[in-house]
Amino acid sequence: MNLHQDERWSLSDLETLYLLALISMRKAPKIFEVGSAHGETSYVMAKINQDTHIFSLDLPVDDTVAHQNKMRWKNTPQEQQITQLYGDSTTFDYSPYLGQMDLVLIDGDHSYLTCKSDSVNALKLINNKGIIIWDDYQSLEVRRAVNELLPQENIFQLKGTNFAVLDRSLT
Ligand SMILES: C[S@@+](CC[C@H](N)C(=O)[O-])C[C@H]1O[C@@H](n2cnc3c(N)ncnc32)[C@H](O)[C@@H]1O
Repeated sequence: MNLHQDERWSLSDLETLYLLALISMRKAPKIFEVGSAHGETSYVMAKINQDTHIFSLDLPVDDTVAHQNKMRWKNTPQEQQITQLYGDSTTFDYSPYLGQMDLVLIDGDHSYLTCKSDSVNALKLINNKGIIIWDDYQSLEVRRAVNELLPQENIFQLKGTNFAVLDRSLT
């Protein structure tokens, strides 16, 4: 599989491979992604497992049809597996999704305050075996936000990546 067509906002190939391996191992039927950008990662997550459905959230746009026409998954078989959501992740109404997600990928605004808010919401979104992945954990702001919320022994860093992972089934 060609992992990424658009390098502007995407995860590295190694990060993507870890992500896809986790999705394949867990079967992860429901995924919530904070920060869609051009839908590169939504697309590959959908492609690796046809039973996965992805809810991907990004900031509001003026024209949702025009926006979605630019997404990587548009006019592919994966389109039906992806629900594009719009809103600011710090004020979005997550209530229809609480406790249901097998995996949450936090890759929106990587500032301390937003990452902390996204992390609190992610903890409510995952089910009792769910996984949270933070991108950019090497940054001081993301690291501070995560480490203030969770004991560091529950957080795994994936070697060679900027990913940190919480696996609720292990905590
Ligand atoms: C690094 S990109 C996401 C990349 C994407 N996950 C991928 O791997 O292809 C970050 C995205 O987060 C979005 N974003 C930034 N702040 C946000 C917020 N407060 N709420 C929702 N999305 C936000 C940006 O618009 C941008 O598209």
